[in-house]
Amino acid sequence: MHVIASAPGKAILFGEHAVIYGKPAIAVAIDKKARVKIRQRMDSKTHVEVHGLGISEYLELENDVVQEKDNNKGILDYISKSLEKVNQLSELKKQNGLDIIVDLEIPIGSGLGSSAAITVATITALSFYNKLELKKDEIANYAHQVELNVQGAASPIDTTLSTYGGVIYLSRNSEEITHLPLNWNPSLIIGYTERESNTGKLVESVRIKKKSYPSIINPILDSIEQVTETAREAIICENAEILGELMNINHGLLDALGVNTPELSRMVYLARKSGAIGSKITGAGGGGSIIAYSPNKIKEVLRELQRVENAFIIKLSSLGVQMEVGRT
Ligand code: PMV
Repeated sequence: MHVIASAPGKAILFGEHAVIYGKPAIAVAIDKKARVKIRQRMDSKTHVEVHGLGISEYLELENDVVQEKDNNKGILDYISKSLEKVNQLSELKKQNGLDIIVDLEIPIGSGLGSSAAITVATITALSFYNKLELKKDEIANYAHQVELNVQGAASPIDTTLSTYGGVIYLSRNSEEITHLPLNWNPSLIIGYTERESNTGKLVESVRIKKKSYPSIINPILDSIEQVTETAREAIICENAEILGELMNINHGLLDALGVNTPELSRMVYLARKSGAIGSKITGAGGGGSIIAYSPNKIKEVLRELQRVENAFIIKLSSLGVQMEVGRT
């Protein structure tokens, strides 16, 4: 028997970085997924394979804890911590080893939530395999703990969207997560650079700026908050023009925080020139991705972005993590 769990990635529409300082944010689950397959092995080893990234590693477990190796970094870290989490929860111990096989449609380090999608899918597949009946809120919570454990800091945006799907509004201080109506089908395009985004470093650079120039940076964060609040209304009223304009303003504010790069800037302005009514960095910046909103000229914007970098159209995913069981 094998089990497969697939979980969507995400794109932040409004409020990245400001969310770290208790400001609200809006983000969507996207139709690009991480798919994790769990299969029993004939021996007692645990093997992880990530297709397309050349990762093929045995994990060494001692008392359910994965032993750190130098190459236990990145994706393997999220998988190892997810495995430890589920092992802690499982009373029924399996004698046989496991194959953990990951397929990714989400580019790594692109700010599109690949690590959260892998974590949520791994926890879901492993818990199902171990006959643990986890509820979605438990999956989201354990996955967020894994992200915090691996990264040190993380908002619950990514793990919430990978678990539940849809569009979410995260209120001030992450106190409440509201699912916004999904009868909205925006034409969104992602453009991403080969340069991976380093969320930790970017968050730190904004923190230093805020400390050095509080009277300048704090009003920028307040403005991002106002942009997000106004965007929430615009989404509910499906007001495309306002939404586009707010994305452009949010981009300018992110630029002022210092997380823009020449490559991201080039894509943002190229998207607008070729017909997008809104475009901005999405995620931490410093590399990674931009998001463009183009209700009328989606193909033109896609074509122009693909001339300079990688780009694809995204659809919102109303589905969160999904399970399937099969015979190997
Ligand atoms: O990790 P990314 O690139 O999806 O961006 C994270 C957004 C930040 O606000 C910068 C950090 C966070 O945890 O919300």
